[in-house]
Amino acid sequence: MREWMTMAVATPIQIRFERFNGDIGIAPATPPHLVDPAQKPALVERAKKLLRERDAVLVAHYYVHPDLQDLAQATGGTVSDSLEMARFGHEHPAKTIVVAGVRFMGETAKILNPEKTVLMPDLAAECSLDLATPAEPFSGFCDEHPDRVVVVYANTSAAVKARADWMVTSSIAEKIVGWLHKQGKKVLWAPDKHLGAYVQKVTGADMLMWNAACVVHDEFKAQQLEEMKLLHPDAKVLVHPESPESVIALADAVGSTTGIIQAAERLGAKKYIVATDGGIIHQMRKRMPGVTFIEAPTAGKGATCQSCAHCPWMAMNGLHNLIDTLEGAKGHEVFVDPAIGARAKVPIERMLDFAKRVLPTFQGGDA
Ligand code: 13P
Ligand code: SF4
Repeated sequence: MREWMTMAVATPIQIRFERFNGDIGIAPATPPHLVDPAQKPALVERAKKLLRERDAVLVAHYYVHPDLQDLAQATGGTVSDSLEMARFGHEHPAKTIVVAGVRFMGETAKILNPEKTVLMPDLAAECSLDLATPAEPFSGFCDEHPDRVVVVYANTSAAVKARADWMVTSSIAEKIVGWLHKQGKKVLWAPDKHLGAYVQKVTGADMLMWNAACVVHDEFKAQQLEEMKLLHPDAKVLVHPESPESVIALADAVGSTTGIIQAAERLGAKKYIVATDGGIIHQMRKRMPGVTFIEAPTAGKGATCQSCAHCPWMAMNGLHNLIDTLEGAKGHEVFVDPAIGARAKVPIERMLDFAKRVLPTFQGGDA
């Protein structure tokens, strides 16, 4: 038995989120086993060896632990936003894709690559947007509005994507909805109400919204951000569009996670306040040494991850459960019903084709 297995099992924390109908739901998030700093180099070497042996590539999101971000970069994988994660996994020749992120990211990889093995360190890594959008009521909502093009955010289940005409991520939402608007189309948008409101404002499109929010970004607070700006008058503010409108209004740049990094490089300031999951700051510090990055303020220092700008479900990915996954432990493989997957692939491929055809030089970034 490995030493860490004798440590106390981490207790799940309970995350509150709002359902589409206003009810409050509760979903658990289990922190991964801690990594003993003395053991870390050996664990990293073990993970590298297993990735090679299994012909596997690690595709990580910016919000996961720095250990996994560094491992992905050191082994020819990627650390990126949801759009690039989907694109990278799809184009990579490895037989196995290991997705360090949340479940919808693993499902998207499986839908695009049904012939490959897709693994995740923890299949129970949820997303409040996905949880707040059950397929059945969503499908009913679509049925009530047959005159609208259904555009869903990547942060949804395979079944919800299967009901959609288009899937978008935050880096391409504005471009696709703007293009649909120019074709005279009316849009049914789900699930994120803040991103939807932002896209609606920028494009002027006629959008009917579903009700859901991200438990992390919904916590950023405009008043506290204004106070922080007064303390740091030289700092520029970078905001992810899943944040409330009042927070977006204070931004010097709004963008997907990749967009936020690109904006910091473009603006060239010496200090930034960053309104998205704090995990991204690891990449920002690596790419922009000497620049100061401050996490934007949330509701306060409460007892849950909801008040500290870290996604509790992204945090479920760690070195130990990644190694278990690569060693073949049961319960880590992503499966999507083939019939649902085939239908869900249509709106995803439509987005990827749009990116290639209409924006051939686009590398992700803006909302
Ligand atoms: P990005 O596509 O910007 O990486 O967003 C994914 C996400 O879940 C943000 O909370
Ligand atoms: Fe979902 Fe928010 Fe976590 Fe992103 S940060 S995965 S939107 S809960």
